[in-house]
Amino acid sequence: MPNVKHFRMVDVISKKRDGASLSKEEIQYFIDGCVDGSIPDYQTSALLMAIYFQGMEDRELADFTMAMAHSGDMIDLSPINGIKVDKHSTGGVGDKTTMAVAPIVASCGVKMAKMSGRGLGHTGGTVDKLESIPGYNTVLDKESFFNQVNKIGVSVIGQSGNLAPADKKLYALRDVTGSVPSIPLIASSIMSKKLAAGADCILLDVKCGSGAFMKNVSDAVTLAQKMVAIGEHNGKRTMAYVTNMDIPLGENIGNALEVKEVVDVLNGRGPADLTLECEELSATLLMMAGKGDRPECIAMVRKAIENGEAMDKFKEMVQAQGGDISVFDNPEEFTRAAVCYEVKSDREGYISAMDTESIGIASTMLGAGRETLDSIIDPTAGITICKKTGDKVNIGDVLAKFYTSREELLSPAVKRYYEALSYSQQAPEKSKLVYAVVDKDGVTMR
Ligand code: URA
Repeated sequence: MPNVKHFRMVDVISKKRDGASLSKEEIQYFIDGCVDGSIPDYQTSALLMAIYFQGMEDRELADFTMAMAHSGDMIDLSPINGIKVDKHSTGGVGDKTTMAVAPIVASCGVKMAKMSGRGLGHTGGTVDKLESIPGYNTVLDKESFFNQVNKIGVSVIGQSGNLAPADKKLYALRDVTGSVPSIPLIASSIMSKKLAAGADCILLDVKCGSGAFMKNVSDAVTLAQKMVAIGEHNGKRTMAYVTNMDIPLGENIGNALEVKEVVDVLNGRGPADLTLECEELSATLLMMAGKGDRPECIAMVRKAIENGEAMDKFKEMVQAQGGDISVFDNPEEFTRAAVCYEVKSDREGYISAMDTESIGIASTMLGAGRETLDSIIDPTAGITICKKTGDKVNIGDVLAKFYTSREELLSPAVKRYYEALSYSQQAPEKSKLVYAVVDKDGVTMR
């Protein structure tokens, strides 16, 4: 008889419920059963909820992540020459940094073969955003993907069907059973995909605040540390930024609107917060790839924006993937929605806080995101934010502009937006954009 251990799922669930650590074999049994469908969704969901409450110790988290990574293809990027870098955000509102960072680093000579995701809940996804560019193809076969990165240094596509299929299954269940905001579940979900995607260096952007899954800095730093430890343990140079998601990033939310804002950043005319974050993340990726120290890498990034090489690289990537780059000559046209509505302030004072998750939901309600799995995205729907936290507003000032193809969607979204704003009579304290940077040597608070 082969030495195969047999488990009962109910015992695995009970063990975790009672706070014990699962063995490597129990974890493998669970992940195999998830992928082959032999474990029913109700038992999978029960284990996820037990993990949500009991957490995981480091050894257990490492085993869980590796089992998820190996549940599908482990992509070998070695046909692409040189060091390959990857970045991943834990999810935010108005977070369009990947679309700017990928061409910036490629224009500085570092390759990025990036697989991105679609919008999830109130957060947007790079693939949906890029698909708002007419003709842009997010589905390339492996050979075309590798060839493109070898030739022009960059490609951003959707995740291949068999990349960490266990995560796909678990994420869908977490999304509908209230177990998304769990540190070990987020860490394993993200790192399994990053390890399977094959890059040499991984930069994580851990979002923190009202629009993020991690609501406070301490939890966000812990998540960042766990993910850095998993990456380093697997021989990948891994770093993490912990960044502010109490305020939407930049001024635009929605797919075509976010592409237009990326074009502004690449042309050197982007909003200050978004530009700064894109510069920081790009420079860090260059440093990780051995291009120089921090001041040298920041200078390289700024130069690539100033001399137009970053924008040229973006156009080259879009064109290589079938996208129509003429839209960048006339972005007003490309982002024009059938309906534009100005949301005006009914009071005066300072905006003291924005419930950024609600603002993401308001954008989804206009058609920019999915309400159900099969919703069709309206590429021109979204929000341009005119007043952000810290701004003084008077009665009648325009707080935001709402765009949609369907007028009937306006009213509930506007209500949600008003409810998301808090006011004060004094100017609130200015918040930081970057809270911390985490690498294998520790945490540096900013
Ligand atoms: N993004 C992911 O890919 N997984 C999570 O669990 C959360 C954000």
